[in-house]
Amino acid sequence: MNSHRTWHLDGKPDDKSFSLASGMSKTRLAIVLALAVGIGFMIGILIGTYAICDEVTRDGLYLPGAPDNLVSEADPSISKKIMDAIDPARIEANLRILSEFPHIAGSQRDFDLVKLLKDNFEESGLQVQITPYDVLLSYPSEGSPNTVRLLDGNNTVVYDAKDDESNFSSYRDVVPPFNAYSPSRAVEGQLVFAGYGRVEDYEWLLTIGVNVSGHLVIVKYGHIFRGDKVDIAARYGATGIIIYSDPADCTGQNMGDNRVYPETWWLPPTGAQRGTIFSGDGDPITPGYPANDLAYRYSEETVEPPMPQIPCHPIGYGAAIKIL
Ligand SMILES: *[C@@H]1O[C@H](CO)[C@@H](O)[C@H](O)[C@H]1NC(C)=O
Ligand SMILES: *[C@@H]1O[C@H](CO)[C@@H](O)[C@H](O)[C@H]1NC(C)=O
Ligand SMILES: *[C@@H]1O[C@H](CO)[C@@H](O)[C@H](O)[C@H]1NC(C)=O
Repeated sequence: MNSHRTWHLDGKPDDKSFSLASGMSKTRLAIVLALAVGIGFMIGILIGTYAICDEVTRDGLYLPGAPDNLVSEADPSISKKIMDAIDPARIEANLRILSEFPHIAGSQRDFDLVKLLKDNFEESGLQVQITPYDVLLSYPSEGSPNTVRLLDGNNTVVYDAKDDESNFSSYRDVVPPFNAYSPSRAVEGQLVFAGYGRVEDYEWLLTIGVNVSGHLVIVKYGHIFRGDKVDIAARYGATGIIIYSDPADCTGQNMGDNRVYPETWWLPPTGAQRGTIFSGDGDPITPGYPANDLAYRYSEETVEPPMPQIPCHPIGYGAAIKIL
């Protein structure tokens, strides 16, 4: 499902304008949730966290402010037994398997990992049940993935953010940059930089006489949830929003380290943060209830809180530099 509508603004003829092309398809897919498995991992992570904590001043778990009788161990030999059974080499091997390839929710890879975890836990003697859910998910269109383009006064494309994206074709299952649940349409207009896209950023713009209404905004990732950035931009009348990761927030340049991945872990110019922009929790069309056969389902139009109202697309700072 690709709908492409375009809004033209009354910009001066020689104004540069930007377009956000969004080819988003939303598909309902059955996904599975292995809750027991997740909790098991959480416990593993917690144990790992406390195991390497060097500030422990007494035996066992120490929670500041919690009464001793709630956190002291009745039998420290039990926690010792658990700690001794944890093998860092196995954690590393498992993490490698789980993170080796992307596994976006609802994908075959995701389901394969669920089955793998189920098998592993069953081998350890646990009972695991896989429960299918039918939820609303959002994916970029394979044929025309989203992008941001810079147009000149003659509507000729002078720059396409795609040019500064990684070449994903040699990687397995990589999903191109997108923000889930963005509405599917193309918007065009002048671009306004709006800081981190918080209410105070738009209020400050108004104090200097800049009203983003009818324009596209570009904001930095950080400080608030990306979905709130989209909702706030829409509330101030923006017609579309671009979000990028600022080098000052995601590289080591402030500490004098100019290296980026793959040399080190800092974000490279091509890195674009994906993620949902729906500001509710869980499945948008069955909020608060399990998305099973019995659930009442909202239509996409009546979802509370509403689905994102304006198109949104994430880019890397390599692309942001070109259009800012
Ligand atoms: C638009 O096209 C006209 C005619 O080809 C050209 O003279 C003009 O420089 C172009 N404007 C821009 C901004 O490229
Ligand atoms: C991307 O990489 C593949 C193989 O790694 C290559 O065949 C293709 O030409 C590359 N595409 C671009 C646009 O660089
Ligand atoms: C911003 O512009 C819109 C459209 O012209 C207008 O409706 C709105 O009142 C303006 N906002 C402020 C705070 O001036």
